[in-house]
Amino acid sequence: MKHLLDIQSIEVGDIHQILSRAKDFKDALASGRSCEDILSGKVIINMFFENSTRTLTSFQMAAYRLGAQVINWQVSSSSTKKGETFSDTMECVAGYHPDAIVVRHEEFKAPYTVKKIVDCPVINAGDSWRAHPSQALLDVFTMQENLGDIAGKTIAICGDVAHSRVASSNVEILGKLGARVHIVAPDSLLPNMSKHTHVETFNSLEDGLVGCDVVMMLRNQKERMEAADVPDDVEYFHAFGLTQERLARANEDAFVMHPGPMNRNVEIADDVVDDPVKSKIFEQMANGLPVRMAIFEWALK
Ligand code: CP
Repeated sequence: MKHLLDIQSIEVGDIHQILSRAKDFKDALASGRSCEDILSGKVIINMFFENSTRTLTSFQMAAYRLGAQVINWQVSSSSTKKGETFSDTMECVAGYHPDAIVVRHEEFKAPYTVKKIVDCPVINAGDSWRAHPSQALLDVFTMQENLGDIAGKTIAICGDVAHSRVASSNVEILGKLGARVHIVAPDSLLPNMSKHTHVETFNSLEDGLVGCDVVMMLRNQKERMEAADVPDDVEYFHAFGLTQERLARANEDAFVMHPGPMNRNVEIADDVVDDPVKSKIFEQMANGLPVRMAIFEWALK
């Protein structure tokens, strides 16, 4: 049985298979070709214990586009509100034998707990600050569409790296695919990266963006910070916001990504988000659909 729990636990061959099928699905969606026979008869449950727009909507849409039926389990109306534990909730759902479970949870490695309880593929839609593997796959898909092979390319990941599961999974996947990474963060938001030989760290955008092919900005994950550590938005933008002037430090053809949700004019200036040439942010979000179709096919077929 295949699970997508994190990037560490999947083979490079599986990554290439998912990315290649995502391209097929993107072409099929563009041409209006139906893919609904692929998961016809399957039932998938989305269980999001944290808020989401992109990941939940695109997993739901991906399931429908492949012909599966979807249950969007809602934490706000669930019996967790009556005190039921996470593991008892999962035992209950396991008894209905879904064909796959997509789970987002604030606890470290929560999808591993789910995997131990259920008898179907488990897809991690983001746990704690640790892993967001489907995001990393769609990010790399977007990079490949714009750069071709990313081996040897340099990707800057900038901002609140310390609290970001997107950064963690991107560091893993970019290393597996032969890219170099510049981690650019204020000292207070910079984790220890010494175990990653493909990573260099910087504490200013002015230095960290030099030589980069892609600039990926991150939101300040205030929900995972101690109150005392939450930066002031205006000061943060002044010191660390991506402006056109700072972006000019990167390579001439460099483009900008952001996993969303964005805080405009905190980590990234409006005119960078909306730059019709440099910004691939909304294209990146849209790529969540074909990539998550490919993930479902990979896990369920
Ligand atoms: N990038 C991302 O995970 O966005 P959502 O929280 O909206 O799913």
